[in-house]
Amino acid sequence: MGEISVVGCGYVGLTVAVCMAHLGHNVVAADVDRERVEMLNRGQVPMFEARLDELLDEGLRSGRLRFVDDPQLAVTSARFHFMCVPTPQDVDGSADLSRLEAAIDDLADLFPLRSVVITKSTVPVGTADQLRSRLSRTDIAVVSCPEFLREGTAIHDFLGPDRIVIGALDDPTAQSVAELFAELDCPILTMTNRSAEAVKYGANAFLATKLSFINSMARICESVGADIQDVARGMAGDERIGGKFLAPGPGWGGSCFPKDVSALSHLAQAAGSPAPLLNAVLDANHSQLDHIASKALQAVGPTALDAHGQRDVVVGVWGLTFKAGTSDRRDSPAIAVIHRLLRAGVTVQAFDPTVSCGMDEAPEVRVTSDPYEAAAGADVLVVLTEWDDFTEIDLDKTAEVMNQPRMIDARNLFARDDAETAGFSYAGVGR
Ligand SMILES: NC(=O)c1ccc[n+]([C@@H]2O[C@H](COP(=O)([O-])OP(=O)(O)OC[C@H]3O[C@@H](n4cnc5c(N)ncnc54)[C@H](O)[C@@H]3O)[C@@H](O)[C@H]2O)c1
Repeated sequence: MGEISVVGCGYVGLTVAVCMAHLGHNVVAADVDRERVEMLNRGQVPMFEARLDELLDEGLRSGRLRFVDDPQLAVTSARFHFMCVPTPQDVDGSADLSRLEAAIDDLADLFPLRSVVITKSTVPVGTADQLRSRLSRTDIAVVSCPEFLREGTAIHDFLGPDRIVIGALDDPTAQSVAELFAELDCPILTMTNRSAEAVKYGANAFLATKLSFINSMARICESVGADIQDVARGMAGDERIGGKFLAPGPGWGGSCFPKDVSALSHLAQAAGSPAPLLNAVLDANHSQLDHIASKALQAVGPTALDAHGQRDVVVGVWGLTFKAGTSDRRDSPAIAVIHRLLRAGVTVQAFDPTVSCGMDEAPEVRVTSDPYEAAAGADVLVVLTEWDDFTEIDLDKTAEVMNQPRMIDARNLFARDDAETAGFSYAGVGR
């Protein structure tokens, strides 16, 4: 089995590390965050992700997995090196590759002879070529192997992928990487580095487009008296469309879609092939976030601003993460809606099953440890994340503790009848 190093132990790197150890490889994974590395070596998982604790424990016990806080220590004994560092959005909308470039510069002389550097980070088309010149070592191959896991089901997705995409200069290199995944039963698609890099952006931009589309359709349904739940069901019956990513919501977010759509749009512009569709997809998303915040304020009705720009309005929020099943709040639509509400001068109190204390990104929000506390005294309750846990909550009790039992269900999580029977005045999205 191959000797593997993993650089960066976040959602992607940690998943790669534990899964590769699970598949029988020897893995040394590195992160510059020393606290994180210490936690991982103790068997503690730094994020909420199904089965991660189980596979971490398995890897550590088997002796096939260990963590170090210096990437230089990780790479010297490995042949395959998975680069899993962040590639966030730069100020101009492009992908910021500085962390990846810094890691490559730092490690270039230390990679053993004939190593294979595998980019798992999402990177613009042409990055593999740039990394080759940065490395300036002809013995090292650079392979593009984009990651398609979804947070919340990361382990499931990594071990049971729809496909694996491998971009390389030559077939033997692609095959050597494909062999690392030999235990997995899925198609392996080999292509050039540039095509592999483009697949990842194409996939994320397409999914974001689908969501922006269904959110726009939901807005139309609201205006013409149709129900998006029925419309989506009817559309999904067409195999060419499919049923996934057809649920309307408060807008899409997370650590990938916003930055990746923006980076693709930037890349298109820079390459002289501007893609106005991508900008429309981004604009539609901002508009949806505005729309949900407006719906909450309109449900309360007109209120006056005081001398400090505040309103005597309390909004209860259920859900802070960018989707259910994860503790990740990066670019969460819930937080984006909350920022809009705070700017309107209301008080926000919130509950989420994965958040136990105040949030740096919205310190004004009072985070509660129970859903009834978030609803207590509120003039409207806004449901922003589709946690199943919320459907277990007693709606009668929730309505009773509110100042006014109004609900804006931005995930269409509840049945209108159930909410109305509990005494709520109810509005979903697109219904
Ligand atoms: N999160 C996802 O769902 C997902 C899915 C597919 C692809 N991706 C892509 O994968 C990449 C990583 O994303 P993520 O969500 O895992 O990021 P993350 O922020 O969760 O984790 C990145 C980790 O890298 C560490 N790091 C930063 N610089 C480092 C360095 N020089 N050496 C070692 N460690 C370093 C950080 O401390 C952090 O722990 C990004 O390009 C992202 O777009 C993410």
